[in-house]
Amino acid sequence: MVTRAVVTGTGHYLPERVVENAEFEKSLDTTDEWIRARSGIERRHFAAEGETTSQMAANAARAALDDAGLTPADIDTIIVATSTADLTFPSAATMVQAELGMQNGFAFDVQAVCAGFAFALANANALIISGQANRVMVIGAETFSRIMDWTDRSTCVLFGDGAGALVLEGQEGAGTSADRGILSTDLNSDGRYKDLLYVDGGVSTQSTGHLRMQGNKVFRHAVEKLAKTAHTALDKAGLTADDVDWIVPHQANIRIIQGTAQKMGLPMDKVVVTVQDHGNTSAASIPLALSVGRARGQIKEGDVVVTEAIGGGLAWGAVVLRW
Ligand code: UT7
Repeated sequence: MVTRAVVTGTGHYLPERVVENAEFEKSLDTTDEWIRARSGIERRHFAAEGETTSQMAANAARAALDDAGLTPADIDTIIVATSTADLTFPSAATMVQAELGMQNGFAFDVQAVCAGFAFALANANALIISGQANRVMVIGAETFSRIMDWTDRSTCVLFGDGAGALVLEGQEGAGTSADRGILSTDLNSDGRYKDLLYVDGGVSTQSTGHLRMQGNKVFRHAVEKLAKTAHTALDKAGLTADDVDWIVPHQANIRIIQGTAQKMGLPMDKVVVTVQDHGNTSAASIPLALSVGRARGQIKEGDVVVTEAIGGGLAWGAVVLRW
């Protein structure tokens, strides 16, 4: 018998304000057609003035608790994947802990940019299988609208805000790939690629900064590295692409999503796609897509789900789980 980290609840939160591509035509030399054709994005949500990452994260967490039939007191760990926490410190996760009225357990943030949710899931899995935690709330939450350069048409049309959450719980499994729960993880990073995607400010450089991206270079790394990490994670789980029911990819660009599915030999009807409605929400995109995929009735108990993501660092990874 082994302990497996099993998903028992999902939830998400999207800020009220929806911005259609056409909005950008008023202030930038861009078109709805270009944005749709090059990225697949049609609209995105932006946080209201004063609305913070931790507030959105707490809303997603409440929805996941409801879905799991749990209360905050049942959770012993909160991990928030984010690159846009409210404050330099404390962590967004401890702010969520307070917001939920929890006085128990421990909470911390994970920062691996758009790959953050894969890194957070791997951390949650490690805590659960080593017996250090039993019920972990794993959240991805971002307010990337705060770090956009609104004069840079090559980046500001791509990103959005939002939050998604999963409850993971330790349950006994047989130690085979037929078990429910996280079956494998594969994490990678290569800091030599810093200049491809970064924010040109931070605490020790005394500014907040704006996101800078060499999109076409990131694109090339994405298609190659995402298919590879997904295959590696499947290998570790003792599964092949034929066993996959759903790919739930990071939602950055429909062409990256299609290219990765094609490299894996999987049809698009096995892919959960939300990029058209959310844009790129960085670490929030996978939990948002998982929660929306559940709500649409796409992902069902027993399904093999592969999540994969890449972002600033570069950092990238994949997680294979049986729902
Ligand atoms: O989440 C983290 C990971 N991030 C990603 O995965 C993003 C990866 N990259 C991408 O999604 C794509 O590279 C983009 C959507 C960012 C860009 O698509 P692309 O097909 O790679 O276009 P490009 O960067 O090669 O630019 C093509 C042209 C350029 O014009 P010239 O130099 O050919 O005259 C750009 O200036 O498109 C121009 N362009 C735009 N035109 C209209 C760039 N942004 C826009 C825009 N509207 N918003």
